[in-house]
Amino acid sequence: MLCKRVLSRPRITVSWASVAAQTRLQSTTPISATRTVPAPAERSPSHPHHASSSPRVTALESAKPFSEFLTDSFHRQHDYLRISVTERCNLRCLYCMPEEGIELSPPARLLTSPEIVYLSSLFVSQGVTKIRLTGGEPTVRKDIVPLMQAIGKLRRDGLRELCLTTNGISLHRKLDLMVEAGLTGVNLSLDTLDPFQFQIMTRRKGFEAVMKSIDRILEMNKVGAGIKLKINCVVMRGMNDREIVPFVELGREKPIEVRFIEYMPFDGNKWNQGKMFSYQEMLAVIREKYPTLEKVQDHKNDTSKTYQVPGFQGRVGFITSMTHNFCGTCNRLRITSDGNLKVCLFGNAEVSLRDIIRKENDGQPIDEDAAKQLQLMETVQNAARLSDEGALVNERELEILNIIGMAVKRKKAKHAGMGQLENMKNRPMILIGG
Ligand code: 5AD
Ligand code: SF4
Repeated sequence: MLCKRVLSRPRITVSWASVAAQTRLQSTTPISATRTVPAPAERSPSHPHHASSSPRVTALESAKPFSEFLTDSFHRQHDYLRISVTERCNLRCLYCMPEEGIELSPPARLLTSPEIVYLSSLFVSQGVTKIRLTGGEPTVRKDIVPLMQAIGKLRRDGLRELCLTTNGISLHRKLDLMVEAGLTGVNLSLDTLDPFQFQIMTRRKGFEAVMKSIDRILEMNKVGAGIKLKINCVVMRGMNDREIVPFVELGREKPIEVRFIEYMPFDGNKWNQGKMFSYQEMLAVIREKYPTLEKVQDHKNDTSKTYQVPGFQGRVGFITSMTHNFCGTCNRLRITSDGNLKVCLFGNAEVSLRDIIRKENDGQPIDEDAAKQLQLMETVQNAARLSDEGALVNERELEILNIIGMAVKRKKAKHAGMGQLENMKNRPMILIGG
């Protein structure tokens, strides 16, 4: 009975033809069974059963069908958006940046904060529940805290997780305000526990500052901040592979998840297969010291394979992009700091969302004043409400959603494998954003 009611809720379908002519979203196809998560009350205040139902019934009734725009041809639903908020970084990690550095885009080509908030809001209106801010290094963006405060407000529209991928150098200074703004998760990059090696791998100093950030997160968690902390460690042969066991041992007394990442090729990072230390090799190294290492159940969209040493508080994960792809359960989309939508980390297909948003502003960056004049936030709020009801949506939002939808539909089943990946053209990692 419940299911039937949910199944009969309307859903948006998209005609890929004539963007300008199409200003109505129809409601025909059935809801996908997976999107039955509780949507916040604000989402469907006018629902007739809303006030009187039990929480579970309410959850099911207010569940919105997942957006067709964010569903690809392999039925993958993309509810996780990663946004790069800067191309800059205060480190120069060997595996990320070419030695000579990268050429930065002229500032006018980068997304402004109102543009980032607008896009975040549009994606949340379509069912994105998790946003991760990346870089470069997101904490070097001057207005990162106000930006997070604005994105954090989207919790009332269905955003459930607001995360950061950071190198931790200046995080400790901004952490408290970020948590207040709604930060729920931190992936912190740390490839060595040795301050000297840190300087070699990042071509900069800063180990102590990173440790300070980790300690601050653990301290805040002790008093209930609930920040999900993961440490990302890219393993390179001959560089930090001997630190695998010490990293695992960080979890003996601390509730930290360390994720070992297979070294991936990007433009300018001098990747070669010999330097890549595979998942199987890492497992073998850990099992030599801790033969009881055991597999832990992973969540549906996890990119990492999780393990635990019995008795340790922390966990160990492996991101096996090179040896076992996890494309089948991929739920992520990326926006680069210059405003391109990238549907796959390893694909070079990109479409500019920035150029469409700026059309109404003569191609100029949209600052706070322009955003007000164009009523950006008002129309996206309407888009969320109206698309819920299968009704009229503003032409601007519809045009962007159609572009997003077409790019998502072109997403491939999986990315190229080893042997091809290293020969493909792709941006350096710092310009993609992790
Ligand atoms: N291989 C694997 N991971 C990488 N990262 C950056 N470059 C690479 C690479 N070549 C990841 C690291 C870092 C995050 C910012 O991006 O996990 O922590
Ligand atoms: Fe900066 Fe992260 Fe790249 Fe290192 S991996 S250079 S910290 S963006």
